[in-house]
Amino acid sequence: MGKIAVVGSLNIDFISNVHELPKVGETITATKFKVSPGGKGANQAIAAAKLGGDVEMIGRVGCDEFGELLIENLSKEDVSTKGIKKEGDTGRTFINVDHKGENTITYVPGANGEITKEDIDKNLYTLSQSSYILLQQEIEEEILEYVVERVSSFPECKVIMNAAPARHINEKIIRGVHTLIVNEVELEYLSGKENSDMNIEENIHRLLNQGIKKIIVTLGEKGAIFASQSKYKHIPAIKTSAVDTTGAGDTFIGAYVVAKSEGQPDIEAVEFSTKASAIAVTRNGAQPSIPTREELEQFVKKSGIIHRL
Ligand code: RIB
Repeated sequence: MGKIAVVGSLNIDFISNVHELPKVGETITATKFKVSPGGKGANQAIAAAKLGGDVEMIGRVGCDEFGELLIENLSKEDVSTKGIKKEGDTGRTFINVDHKGENTITYVPGANGEITKEDIDKNLYTLSQSSYILLQQEIEEEILEYVVERVSSFPECKVIMNAAPARHINEKIIRGVHTLIVNEVELEYLSGKENSDMNIEENIHRLLNQGIKKIIVTLGEKGAIFASQSKYKHIPAIKTSAVDTTGAGDTFIGAYVVAKSEGQPDIEAVEFSTKASAIAVTRNGAQPSIPTREELEQFVKKSGIIHRL
């Protein structure tokens, strides 16, 4: 099994459950409130580890109790944390979750925004030993660009980029990405205004033509699309009742990278990921919602799903 390195964000999530998301100028009362470990990077690292991956996390937390909690949570799931530096304030998010499980998130980067090129250089050996390097966009673009540039000399490393939250990705990063994972909004964002009349398939092919080998577009309750130059396939979602979609995308991505690190073919890896995220949406919070491999196997047995594990 190949090793997985995640270079990304660690956040503490302040989550309010509300009936409807607030409108501009409106003050609403939460029905529940919770403080929970999160961050797209840490969530994906934990998902990969809980589902059986060999994972190391590279990033920054603050010198505060939240930083301690995030590191503790990763260690509990056997994610190696020696690549995490403590300085400043831990990244925070303020999340509203409505009665349908949909959310809005405000992100305050804190220590995540302070990751330096030196941090990356200090962890170069870890990166060189990894089969998959997982990136998201809650850290600075110049750091993402630096990681991609440094690992381009390690022929065995494949960069998987989750382009979330939606923002511009520069050409240099695109050229170094092996697999891109996005949702529909992020895909549209990457495609730019000038291509806004293109459909999903056309946008995917435009990005494949820029050199990305594989693209996965997650479609929420409609499932996901896997695409490469030779394949284009829609994989349906597994129907469950969603209570909170926070972290479901991260669970999907962590699951995909584990499946790939085990050598599973692409479509099977996406099917595996849809099962993991189907469980995650039935639970509250980001990291607390991620299933273990055993839970995933039980879920498949109980629901009689035929996809391979
Ligand atoms: O993807 C969900 C995550 O996004 C949350 O845990 C929050 O920290 C934000 O980064």
